[in-house]
Amino acid sequence: MQKLRKEVEKFKKKILENKNLPQHIAIIMDGNGRWAKKRGLPRIAGHKAGVKTVKRIVKAAGELNIKFLTLFTFSTENWRRPKKEVSAIMGLLYKTTKKEIDELYQNNVRLITTGRIDGFSPRRKEILEKAMEKTKNNTGLTLNLALNYSGRVEILDAVRKIIKDLKKGKIDEEKIDSKLFSSYLYTKDLPDPDLLIRTSGELRLSNFLLWQTSYTELYITDVLWPDFSVSDFHQAILDYQKRERRFGGVG
Ligand code: FPP
Repeated sequence: MQKLRKEVEKFKKKILENKNLPQHIAIIMDGNGRWAKKRGLPRIAGHKAGVKTVKRIVKAAGELNIKFLTLFTFSTENWRRPKKEVSAIMGLLYKTTKKEIDELYQNNVRLITTGRIDGFSPRRKEILEKAMEKTKNNTGLTLNLALNYSGRVEILDAVRKIIKDLKKGKIDEEKIDSKLFSSYLYTKDLPDPDLLIRTSGELRLSNFLLWQTSYTELYITDVLWPDFSVSDFHQAILDYQKRERRFGGVG
């Protein structure tokens, strides 16, 4: 335990000594189901263990002064899961939000969401909205939960809004460029992610932040989300800090 804590402190120091700290980290938290299956447990036990990982990674990100952490919590496609699993995930999300909001507030975390939260029941939406309202003036980590989120739907929603504004004459067709397009996305107030971490070894984006990840550095680990430790998180950041980002140029 003592040795582990020392290792965590050592990595933390190393990350902070390097100058290029990622401003925005996005995570696809995958592998809860497999983690549970390996132990002969129901899938929901994996999601419960996944919430514990969320707590430790949020804390670790705050300690490193990371500005934005986006977690892929529930995709539009996840509604296709068995009803029992969907309601268990929802239950966990709202229970955790209610339980943790005071601590998030104390830790200067600002909670926001990305996605169509209008798709949730009014009672559930209210829990999220209250939590966002309470933390809206916090200046530390912005914790962004992607909920009822689909990258393609986000792009289509932006296209619809742009067409409306074009028709109203609010924007000029010639002026539609990447910057303007980004300002129509759900994430208009966030910088693009610098680093995207995906746990449990799958090599795909799964409809996550499709527009925003054009030049994001990817880090994929075989570790299942419930097992993802603060050291694993630190390893991912240290790996990112060694990369040369050229954005299509020559460096
Ligand atoms: C992916 O594992 C995980 C999810 C779809 C749900 C993630 C949700 C949580 C961890 C709870 C959210 C709570 C908060 C507070 C953010 P999977 O089920 O796809 O795993 P598998 O690929 O092994 O089946």
